Amino acid sequence: MMKVKQFKLGPMGNFSYIVWDAGLREAAVIDPAWQPEVLEELIRKEKLILKFLLLTHAHPDHANAARYFLEKDKTLALTVHKEDTFLLDDDINPLNLLKGEEELAFGHLKMKVIHTPGHTPGSVSYLAGGAVFTGDTLFVGQCGRADLPGSDPKALRLSLLKLAALPGETVLYPGHAYNGHTSTIGVQKEYNIYMKLAARGEAEFVKAAA
Ligand SMILES: [Fe+2]
Repeated sequence: MMKVKQFKLGPMGNFSYIVWDAGLREAAVIDPAWQPEVLEELIRKEKLILKFLLLTHAHPDHANAARYFLEKDKTLALTVHKEDTFLLDDDINPLNLLKGEEELAFGHLKMKVIHTPGHTPGSVSYLAGGAVFTGDTLFVGQCGRADLPGSDPKALRLSLLKLAALPGETVLYPGHAYNGHTSTIGVQKEYNIYMKLAARGEAEFVKAAA
């Protein structure tokens, strides 16, 4: 059985997550940032074996504690999409580079990588156990900024459509606490204006998001 713990850390309402298999205790940290000691405390308390350090994208507010974990545990690598490495410091290594659409396994869990570019070129979402971790691609009631270096509003629209194709009951775990902590894909398709505009067409979406 998959367990998820959400942590709101740092001055920008960032979410980090620990996802683990309750039986075999193998775990992944998604977006290690701000207060690694808080994440470590849960790892220790639950006796977890950390297998993956995953980035939804490489903006520093999602990645600034990666170095802490890499230096402490030399068996770890930082998993990041290859299109986002330009955002990382050169000395962050080792890297486990994604192309998108991989499947990661820890414990009995299978986690699917979905390439969801737009906020950054290498943004990914992680799908496992009926939940999706969307980083800065999709928030509760909002989507990620598409006006930053490397952003692409047309790509962001296609990524939102990819997420909209997931089952409605899929639990949404976003990268920031902007309008709430969690939702479902079905609720977002109904109430999130950017999801609705994405479905309506490229011109309308780009006008609103860029
Ligand atoms: Fe970001």
